[in-house]
Amino acid sequence: MSIHLVTGASTGMGFATALALAERSESVVVVARRDEPLQALAGEHPGLIEPVAGDVGDLADRNRIVARVGGRPLASIVHGAATAVPTQPWTDLDPDELSHHFQVHVAAPVALTAALLRVGAVDRSVILDSYSAATPRDGWGAYSILKSAAQMAMRAAALELDETAILRVYPGAVATPLLDRILNAGPEVAAAEFYRDLRDQGLVSTPMEIGNQLADLLIAPLGADRSGEFVHHIGHSIPQG
Ligand SMILES: NC(=O)c1ccc[n+]([C@@H]2O[C@H](COP(=O)([O-])OP(=O)(O)OC[C@H]3O[C@@H](n4cnc5c(N)ncnc54)[C@H](OP(=O)(O)O)[C@@H]3O)[C@@H](O)[C@H]2O)c1
Repeated sequence: MSIHLVTGASTGMGFATALALAERSESVVVVARRDEPLQALAGEHPGLIEPVAGDVGDLADRNRIVARVGGRPLASIVHGAATAVPTQPWTDLDPDELSHHFQVHVAAPVALTAALLRVGAVDRSVILDSYSAATPRDGWGAYSILKSAAQMAMRAAALELDETAILRVYPGAVATPLLDRILNAGPEVAAAEFYRDLRDQGLVSTPMEIGNQLADLLIAPLGADRSGEFVHHIGHSIPQG
């Protein structure tokens, strides 16, 4: 039995991945700001799921998360915490608000991985990557800025960490509160049409479909060479362009 840390575990893919791991008899420390959904998740598998309510963008909360792991070797950290990224024209973005989103999507995965490595081994550090990291879309530029920065942070980590495998997992489009944000955007956000088309074509996965595929990846044995990055595509493939 191994231990995993999943952030953003109160909804979406974080929730589904934590549940799928526990269903495979893995232990999981789950993190999100809201305690109630974490307690409900823990109630599904008492003894396997340990909730820690906290904000990954906050240093004191990250220290509590690290203390809860307590130096136990981690099979994986899944960085699933995600803010409600603004859907608006790039010229209307509030720089202060963008900084807040940057803290959660980019700075927190780096800081949390580094803090955990100072106290114990981490086999895998995992981000849920997006084609938006390489392809900006009209009205959804803030998301592309955050996802490209998060991707680059992990690609840099892959060069520097020899004992921790960096996994960049592309789940495609997944029915979560984050996807709802773009699906429900107004007519000023042209990108929303792209995602509505995917939904109408049946190309949106459920969180549990992704959670199960990701959990299988996280418990698969790692080879001896953990340097470099490992890129996986799961869920539905998304037409590009
Ligand atoms: N959905 C998609 O189609 C899709 C596609 C590709 C990649 N991704 C990526 O997948 C990841 C997960 O996305 P998702 O769609 O599963 O998101 P989601 O369902 O919206 O869930 C986001 C989670 O993050 C938590 N959270 C937000 N701010 C936090 C903070 N400061 N500290 C700790 N937890 C925080 C939320 O819970 P609380 O509010 O309780 O804190 C929630 O559990 C993101 O990186 C996203 O970019 C998503």
